[in-house]
Amino acid sequence: MLDELFYRIFESLPRQGPGDPGSTRRALSLLPGLADDLAILDLGCGSGAQTLDLAWVTRGTILAVDNHQPFLDMLAARMAVEGLAGRVKVMNADLGQLNLPSRSFDLVWCEGAAFVLGFAESISSWKGFLKPGGCMAMSELAWLTDTPPQEARDYMDQVYPAITGMEGNLEIIRSLGGEDLGHFVLPEAAWWDAYYTPMEMRLSAFAEKYRDDGKAMELIRHLQQEIEMYRKYPDAYGYVFYVAQFA
Ligand SMILES: C[S@@+](CC[C@H](N)C(=O)[O-])C[C@H]1O[C@@H](n2cnc3c(N)ncnc32)[C@H](O)[C@@H]1O
Repeated sequence: MLDELFYRIFESLPRQGPGDPGSTRRALSLLPGLADDLAILDLGCGSGAQTLDLAWVTRGTILAVDNHQPFLDMLAARMAVEGLAGRVKVMNADLGQLNLPSRSFDLVWCEGAAFVLGFAESISSWKGFLKPGGCMAMSELAWLTDTPPQEARDYMDQVYPAITGMEGNLEIIRSLGGEDLGHFVLPEAAWWDAYYTPMEMRLSAFAEKYRDDGKAMELIRHLQQEIEMYRKYPDAYGYVFYVAQFA
């Protein structure tokens, strides 16, 4: 029931994590050059907000992977409507157990899903899918200040203790053989426009509906608290896009 409510909320959102088309394009612009037949692996694609942007801006093919089938069905339907189905395929798989040929992609893309394995583990597991000289573009949560407020620290200790600073993530990239091609902080609007604002509207409606259901209210309050924390501390933490090339 709780899973059902969780997915009901997330399936109804334009995207399932912070991001926006401008940031996707900006990350793409940091790549050394886009071949015509670019093969992209989009990991943790969700319902495919960034997959669609990648499909419009690049040429070649995209394999979009997630383990929640309804997201993949939404993505596939959308690609069909947009006439992109020939270039975009979906695959239901676990990010930690991808059965894909090594050295077969020019670009591994991951918006907001590296937390599933952890930033370092994601890079180590996925870089083998890149052709030599291929690139990885990933967005990941990071502290934006050396002195985050205590309340934000306490919150992250509970929800994402692995969070580190931008420099810490760049060090991880370098230690795993990546060359930093550029990185930038996603704008605050990338959290609000297609993610927290629509989520907040749904949460208020569901709070009415489920007010007598303790478990549902716990989930709703947890998500509301997440939004409140970001509203309070947008300068303390954020999503950072990292683009790196691997030999
Ligand atoms: C924060 S969402 C990001 C979705 C999308 N990239 C976006 O920015 O809208 C994380 C995604 O990872 C997927 N996911 C979580 N754990 C996974 C796993 N073990 N294997 C595959 N996908 C997973 C979720 O279903 C979800 O779609």
